[in-house]
Formats: sequence, structure tokens, C-alpha cells
Amino acid sequence: MAFAKNYAFFVLILFPCSLHVVHALNYAMFSSGDGNFKLHWTYSNNKLLFNMTCKATGWCAVGFTENPGGRGMVNYDIAAGGVDGNTSYLEDYWSNTTGQPPKDAVNNFQLVEAMEMGGYTSVKFERNLTTGEANLDVQFTMNTEVYIVWAMHPTDDADPTASNLSPYHGNTNRGRTTNKRNLIAEAMAAAMTPTTTTMMMPFTSLVSTPQPTDPNDNDSLTTQVE
Ligand SMILES: *[C@@H]1O[C@H](CO)[C@@H](O)[C@H](O)[C@H]1NC(C)=O
Ligand SMILES: *[C@@H]1O[C@H](CO)[C@@H](O)[C@H](O)[C@H]1NC(C)=O
Ligand SMILES: *[C@@H]1O[C@H](CO)[C@@H](O)[C@H](O)[C@H]1NC(C)=O
Ligand SMILES: *[C@@H]1O[C@H](CO)[C@@H](O)[C@H](O)[C@H]1NC(C)=O
Ligand SMILES: *[C@@H]1O[C@H](CO)[C@@H](O)[C@H](O)[C@H]1NC(C)=O
Repeated sequence: MAFAKNYAFFVLILFPCSLHVVHALNYAMFSSGDGNFKLHWTYSNNKLLFNMTCKATGWCAVGFTENPGGRGMVNYDIAAGGVDGNTSYLEDYWSNTTGQPPKDAVNNFQLVEAMEMGGYTSVKFERNLTTGEANLDVQFTMNTEVYIVWAMHPTDDADPTASNLSPYHGNTNRGRTTNKRNLIAEAMAAAMTPTTTTMMMPFTSLVSTPQPTDPNDNDSLTTQVE
């Protein structure tokens, strides 16, 4: 066959021909490490948008505090929410001592959506960086650093109409970060990290070794190429 005679062959080459840089909305993230609590957040237009997830079918809460050490439930700005039956709820609490945190005068957290699935509760919500309640909410600026604290009740929902957050989470269903975090800086850094996808495009190349053409061979190679 002329095909063989001319040492012509097809080569399938994968060329990295296009580089797609996708600016997906990358959230900053904190995870408790034991699978019990996860917080994703992003920052935009003077707002922080959160998605907290607890391994619980009861209430799920995150708190922020500038209090040195982050301990004792002192100056905790708390968002607690969940899904009770078909109703999603999220309330704003301020704690200054151990015990049931009292609700703020104003709920400065805006519930976006909440869902319960496979034993986990996720609550998505947003908050303005600053609120009108300087003594009942952390006022976030570009330099604000907070401990992230969390707690949950594994099975029981909170009553969103009650003036305090209950029932008690117990001794174990809670935690806090070891360091203070700048939520805005982390959100901005996460958003700047592009998700890069390299598309490998298949190309068909015809490579032929130059050979003196046999004039008697009119079995044309080109007829082989489709
Ligand atoms: C929130 O985070 C959880 C856990 O990472 C995820 O399963 C869920 O889809 C997220 N919800 C939204 C609305 O982004
Ligand atoms: C939730 O809503 C569905 C459909 O509307 C209804 O069938 C179900 O009984 C509701 N469940 C509760 C706990 O209210
Ligand atoms: C919380 O306690 C701190 C000092 O421990 C105090 O400065 C602050 O005013 C208290 N806040 C409220 C709302 O009681
Ligand atoms: C955030 O601020 C805007 C503008 O000041 C206000 O209209 C809105 O109600 C605030 N959102 C929350 C959740 O407090
Ligand atoms: C090849 O070409 C020769 C002369 O040019 C011709 O006689 C012969 O019939 C051709 N063979 C084929 C298979 O076309």
C-alpha cells in the first residue's frame, strides 16, 4: 500500500490549545476539621455573604468576636438558624456571658435560604459590614479580626420567636478558631484565586516522511486522507 510505502501516518496529538480562566465565585472557608461545622463566606458591596453548615438537624449557629482570646461567650455576635419543619429561620443574638444568648433588638442578618439534608443543616445569609447596633453587633472594617465560634443542637431547633437562644448546645457541640481571622481579607484573597481549566483539544495531524514518489505508483495517498 502506498500508504505504508510513503511512511505517511496519522498522528493524534492533544494540544493544550486554550486556557480557560474561569473566575468562579470562590468562597473563603473555615472547617472545624471534625466534620461538624463549616463556614463559607464571600464579600461584596459592603456585605458579607455566609453559608454555614452544621452536622445537625436542630439549630446551627456561628458567632464572631473581637474579644481577646475569644472565650467565655463575651461579646459574641451570633447568627443562629435552621429548618424547622418547612420553615427556615435565622436570628441575631448577642452574648456577653455563658448562658442563653439574648436576641438583639434588630435582626441584622438576612436569611437567604436554609436547607436540611442527610443530617446536615445549611443556612445561607448575609450581613452588612456595619449595622446601627455598635454594642450588639461586630462592626466590620477592612482591619477587623474576629474569632469564629460555632455551636449547634444536634436534634432540636431553636424557637425563633423566643427572646433567647435555646436549647443548650451542651458541652461538646461547639468550638472556636485558635486565631483571629480577617474575614474580608480572606474573602478577597479567595475571590482573587482563579479557577484555571486547561482544555485539551484533540488535533489530527498528518505527518509524512518525504520520500521520492514512485511514478508508477498512482495509488494516491491523498485519496486516503479524508
Ligand atoms: C453551603 O455549603 C454546603 C456545604 O459545603 C453545600 O452543600 C451547600 O450546597 C451550600 N449552599 C449554598 C446555597 O451554596
Ligand atoms: C411541608 O410541606 C409539604 C408540602 O407542602 C407538606 O406535605 C408537609 O406536611 C409539610 N411538612 C411540615 C412538617 O409542615
Ligand atoms: C459586654 O461586656 C463588656 C465588658 O465585659 C461591656 O463593655 C459591654 O458593654 C457589654 N455589652 C453589653 C451589650 O452588655
Ligand atoms: C443593609 O444596608 C442597607 C442599606 O443601608 C439596608 O437597606 C438593608 O436593610 C441592610 N440589610 C440588613 C440585613 O440589615
Ligand atoms: C497508473 O498509471 C498508469 C500510467 O500512468 C496506468 O497505466 C495505470 O492504469 C494506472 N493504474 C491505476 C491503478 O490507476
